[in-house]
Amino acid sequence: MANDHALLSVDSVNVRFGGLKALSDVHCQINSGEVVGLIGPNGAGKTTLFNVLSGIVKPDSGELSLNGVKRDWLEPYDLVENQISRTLQGVGLFGDLTVLENVMIGAEVHAKAGLVRSIFGASKKSEDELRQRAYIALENTYCADIAHRRADSLPYPITKRVAIARALVSDPKLLLLDEPAGGLGSQDIEWMKSLIRNIRGRTSVLIVEHHMEVVMNVCDRIYVLNFGELIAEGTPAQVRENPAVVAAYLGTQGSHS
Ligand SMILES: Nc1ncnc2c1ncn2[C@@H]1O[C@H](COP(=O)(O)OP(=O)(O)OP(=O)(O)O)[C@@H](O)[C@H]1O
Ligand SMILES: [Mg+2]
Repeated sequence: MANDHALLSVDSVNVRFGGLKALSDVHCQINSGEVVGLIGPNGAGKTTLFNVLSGIVKPDSGELSLNGVKRDWLEPYDLVENQISRTLQGVGLFGDLTVLENVMIGAEVHAKAGLVRSIFGASKKSEDELRQRAYIALENTYCADIAHRRADSLPYPITKRVAIARALVSDPKLLLLDEPAGGLGSQDIEWMKSLIRNIRGRTSVLIVEHHMEVVMNVCDRIYVLNFGELIAEGTPAQVRENPAVVAAYLGTQGSHS
């Protein structure tokens, strides 16, 4: 249901890929300051919904509201203007730039809506401001001490944190994270949980994740997809106890449950 208080809500979303229904009549709402989880088995439609929200997939039908106002589906270039950030699946850092430069580019992209190269021609004042903002984002993601390292010299778990710093530097209202803990070991998962708790309240977050300990730990509410349909929504405790969720997903999660 569209809600006046929702930062973002979608309703009756249908996405078909040829003969496959990837999303059937799906709704989802993210309120200001909330951390919302999206879980479900492989192929359930999580990334498809994520891509609908970030303008990469156009649904066959459905409605989008931002701040309670109905509008057309977003295009990728609308994200900046609407203060929505997403991390890229493949991390997507510039390997030959430093961590700090990578994060400054994140701010610059938002400031200039896509003029990445202009960062190096920025005036002194705006460059100082960008640098300061980048440091704050790096502190929030526990990366300030590696600000001057080249991105291609970093281990994978650290690059995931830097990618989040880059998405955060523009002060988004909504941050979309697709599997932030994917490929991480248990120590780095602890960092990721702490990082998400650290940014809670400052920005709303939608997080797609298979690691249940992360989702159950950091999310205020969770939506559960199975074969393109929402089978449950609620608090972590409600979802964990839901028999349909246990049958479709949690029962198969082994050590992640
Ligand atoms: N561009 C596409 N063309 C055709 N089929 C697609 C496309 N994108 C996704 N699909 C299919 O749609 C279904 C949902 O895929 P999606 O990637 O959204 O699942 P997911 O929940 O993110 O899964 P995972 O946990 O494995 O990442 C799958 O059956 C997938 O094969
Ligand atoms: Mg996916």
